[in-house]
Amino acid sequence: MTAPLRIGIAGLGTVGAGVVKMLQQNAELITARAGRPVEVTCVSARDKAKKRDVDLSHYQWIDAPEAMASADVDIVVELMGGSEGTARNLVEASLKSGKAVITANKALLAEHGLALAALADAAKVPLMYEAAVAGGIPIIKALREGFAGNNIGAVYGILNGTCNYILTTMRETGRGFDDVLAEAQAKGYAEADPAFDVDGIDAAHKLSILTALAFGVKPAFGKVAIQGIRHITADDMEHARDLGYRIKLLGMARRMKDGAIVQTMEPTLVPQDSPIGAVDGVFNAVFVEGDFVHTSLLVGRGAGEGPTASAVLSDIIDIARGKTAPVYGVPADTLKDAKWGGAADIHSHFYMHLKVIDKTGVLADVAAILRDHNISVEAMIQRGRNPDQPVPIVMTTHETRYSDVLAACEKISGLKLVQAKPTVLRIEQF
Ligand code: NAP
Ligand code: HSE
Repeated sequence: MTAPLRIGIAGLGTVGAGVVKMLQQNAELITARAGRPVEVTCVSARDKAKKRDVDLSHYQWIDAPEAMASADVDIVVELMGGSEGTARNLVEASLKSGKAVITANKALLAEHGLALAALADAAKVPLMYEAAVAGGIPIIKALREGFAGNNIGAVYGILNGTCNYILTTMRETGRGFDDVLAEAQAKGYAEADPAFDVDGIDAAHKLSILTALAFGVKPAFGKVAIQGIRHITADDMEHARDLGYRIKLLGMARRMKDGAIVQTMEPTLVPQDSPIGAVDGVFNAVFVEGDFVHTSLLVGRGAGEGPTASAVLSDIIDIARGKTAPVYGVPADTLKDAKWGGAADIHSHFYMHLKVIDKTGVLADVAAILRDHNISVEAMIQRGRNPDQPVPIVMTTHETRYSDVLAACEKISGLKLVQAKPTVLRIEQF
């Protein structure tokens, strides 16, 4: 029998414990598919005494995770999280010492992916991260291998399970934001700091990784225009439903006609009867447009113990089989600097939700501002009639420039009879 592949696991939380569980439970089939036994030799986390849901008694405990870089292992699996500190130190040290690394850490990759890829190239070792984007969907493999012959025009994604779970559960049950977020945390979906989820940062980290892979450009998390979901209300969800849409935290990376790439991560209206509109709960989806494949939609669970462990195991088995590739599909030093475009230039349909005082003339004032910004209204609904009291007005626009809509909303916010800054959401037709 071939010598076992020795694994060190740093981080034994939701994902780390899931990986240990899967290795133990599916040992026989993993050995067969890897062509050799896969053995955990050492583990590490913050608190050795913590009660965990897995049997760790056969593994050496390492107090300082960084020490795993010089331990007797073939692969270091980093499942602690965080873009700096221990996780970054361990990954860098492991690559430098010639060890293969697997990580689920999208924050680390979004912030330092290019430098880590260069380290991996220099050391000629794999740095694998299937678990870092879209949980159980093999999207890294799909972009790096499955769609490798295509010119990719755009990638869209529902990339945060926590946000999709919150938006879905609020819509279906009417429960409050905080209550549903707490449930997502209890299920192991959320980041250690859930602000990363609900403010769109985690999903933007993932999108920046997909952009680099899809377009062969240097990753640029700083070029993602990000909006989270905190400002989305139950009323917005109801209005969207009445108009035939659902609200999703949707990422988009698209190459525009002038060659610039635009990256956005923002709550977006999508048709409720479209395949992507039906992606609910903790599920993620990635929609890819390629010149030969045309369109492809991949759907699967985006967070939680099982789907994430499944992705880590696919990397372990790939390494065992010797089936690895450069981090972004090409050597790091051949990635191009992209020309980045801004969201302001996007042309789209938009949803606008205004709260106005129900008085004669308010609509004429709003309409005048829209006209002055070249914005044509497609549909408008005024909810209820309540003279001199606040009422919601919901509009959708014909295709128009994002910057014009934002400028118009600034002006509308200043009207005396308008109570708050309008909510503006892009509408994406699939
Ligand atoms: P978690 O449940 O909070 O677990 C983190 C683990 O890392 C814990 O075992 C913790 O030790 C250990 N740890 C953290 N900082 C450490 C340090 N400085 N030194 C030693 N150990 C440290 O997190 P998770 O949900 O498993 O996520 C882990 C990674 O996977 C993150 O990068 C996350 O973004 C990513 N990810 C998570 C999911 C998901 O669904 N949860 C999905 C995809 C990717 P203690 O247990 O002793 O506190
Ligand atoms: N917090 C992340 C999410 C975990 O909810 O999608 C999976 O990356």
